[in-house]
Amino acid sequence: MSLLLAGRWVMITGASSGIGAAAAVAFGAKGARLLLGARRLDRLEQVANRARITGAAEVQFHFLDVRNPESVTEFVQWAGSIIRSAASEPRNLHVLVNNAGGAHGLDPVADGKDEDWETMLQTNVLGVLRVTRAALPLMPQHAGATIINIGSVAGHEAYEGGSAYCAAKAGVRKLTEVLRLELCGTGIRVCIIEPGFTRTEFALVRFKGDAERANKVYEGMTPLTAEDIAEALVWAAERPPHVNIDQMLIKPTDQAAMHKIYRRTT
Ligand SMILES: NC(=O)c1ccc[n+]([C@@H]2O[C@H](COP(=O)([O-])OP(=O)(O)OC[C@H]3O[C@@H](n4cnc5c(N)ncnc54)[C@H](OP(=O)(O)O)[C@@H]3O)[C@@H](O)[C@H]2O)c1
Repeated sequence: MSLLLAGRWVMITGASSGIGAAAAVAFGAKGARLLLGARRLDRLEQVANRARITGAAEVQFHFLDVRNPESVTEFVQWAGSIIRSAASEPRNLHVLVNNAGGAHGLDPVADGKDEDWETMLQTNVLGVLRVTRAALPLMPQHAGATIINIGSVAGHEAYEGGSAYCAAKAGVRKLTEVLRLELCGTGIRVCIIEPGFTRTEFALVRFKGDAERANKVYEGMTPLTAEDIAEALVWAAERPPHVNIDQMLIKPTDQAAMHKIYRRTT
């Protein structure tokens, strides 16, 4: 029997676009109560409206910059006060989706920029650690609660120009494994979902707004959609409490490997 998500609290970081936004809509469609964070509040508001329309029992959003420890503390305190003062049970966090992240630049190490490296490690690695540390006290034990971290194929496979991003996503893999060991016996499940090419704002962010370069990433191939990944997130969270989906590596059919992409020429 699957675990019902209706009325359960789900926290999603990086919910203002791409996978996080699709996850908000997908969990909303299950009747979950959503706590969304990101830096772009106007975009969060649009996502919140879409999630309400699809059936979310409640949607709240708040500014969050996972690079900033004070912002993380403030965000989770905000979330905690909403959960604790909710009109009905359950008054705890059921699912945490650590999704905020991304890549910045595609320079070889010889030309790498400190700012890009620091942003990638701060956002993808330290952000996940900080949000998880702050949110754990809100999570119930022995209840099928779930932490889902978003990794990447880049955490498995190296590619030229990917140094800090590959290192960051390999870091997410390792911290996920550590967390699973540390939480064994609490009932809290720890999962990592690792997408391949997924059409979101990811490439636009990586190439700092260069849309032409970003579009080239997907030229002639069919990438995953954010909804494909969101579906996997909901599926993992819906498994019965004794089932932990340790990891899911999801790639487009056209992407056999980082260096092996099938591109149609016509
Ligand atoms: N798309 C892909 O091909 C792909 C493949 C593998 C893994 N991933 C991973 O999937 C996750 C989601 O990315 P996406 O593809 O959906 O890209 P996206 O459309 O660019 O979404 C990234 C999200 O992260 C948020 N974010 C970035 N920096 C943040 C910060 N400092 N604090 C809080 N939120 C922050 C962004 O919101 P604000 O800018 O509003 O803060 C946005 O909501 C990332 O972890 C990414 O590394 C993506």
